[in-house]
Amino acid sequence: DHLSGFVVAIDGPSGSGKSSVSKQVARTLGYGYLDTGAMYRALAWWCLSENVDLTDPEAVTAAAHRLPLSIGTDPDDPTVTVGGVDVTAAIRETRISTNVSAVAGVIPVRELMRVLQRRLISEAGAADGGVVAEGRDITTVVAPDAPVRILLTASEEARLARRSTELHGDADEASVEATRAQIVDRDKADSAVSEFSVAADGVTTIDTSHLDFEGSVRAVLQVVGAAQA
Ligand code: DC
Repeated sequence: DHLSGFVVAIDGPSGSGKSSVSKQVARTLGYGYLDTGAMYRALAWWCLSENVDLTDPEAVTAAAHRLPLSIGTDPDDPTVTVGGVDVTAAIRETRISTNVSAVAGVIPVRELMRVLQRRLISEAGAADGGVVAEGRDITTVVAPDAPVRILLTASEEARLARRSTELHGDADEASVEATRAQIVDRDKADSAVSEFSVAADGVTTIDTSHLDFEGSVRAVLQVVGAAQA
């Protein structure tokens, strides 16, 4: 099951700028884009709407098998639907963010997602010549065979400031403090799934703490360009 197209795999914690940077890199290269976190979020949304017990791994696995998911791989229109319902905005709500690690932590769910994600990456890669796939385990589990594998990191302070600006429109002291618990809790829940913040062998780490959006995009494009040279 070899992947089609040129695959750029990007992992990173929340607040690393991963999603916005990956989307812009895909646009610049004319590649497809896959947000794998959105797939776990869609499953969490489905479980909540179907009253699936999130503390029951077998029930969550069964729900994952039934998940009527469709996800767009156009970086300008990454629409997510579940059973025909557009959940693109709903999966960003706090009730999803706080529940998503319960589904992402179930091993059979991850195995299912891996198969689905490799299929989506291959389809987008075949259609567009390449694809930028982002998440937490793309460089290690989903596409360890990708020719470009990048870990985007940022200091906790930088990630807090970005998330705070996203959520509260500001990075003043009160807004940052209001965001801190959420970020720290998510990091803890996420790291139970895998060692997200450590670069595997052959993975290029880009620390974006002191880079702005454009600088981060340029840094990723440079790694891609070097691999294609
Ligand atoms: O990147 P995000 O915040 O949309 O990710 C949502 C959740 O899904 C987060 O808790 C981590 C998890 N996730 C994962 O386990 N593996 C991935 N490849 C992507 C996301």
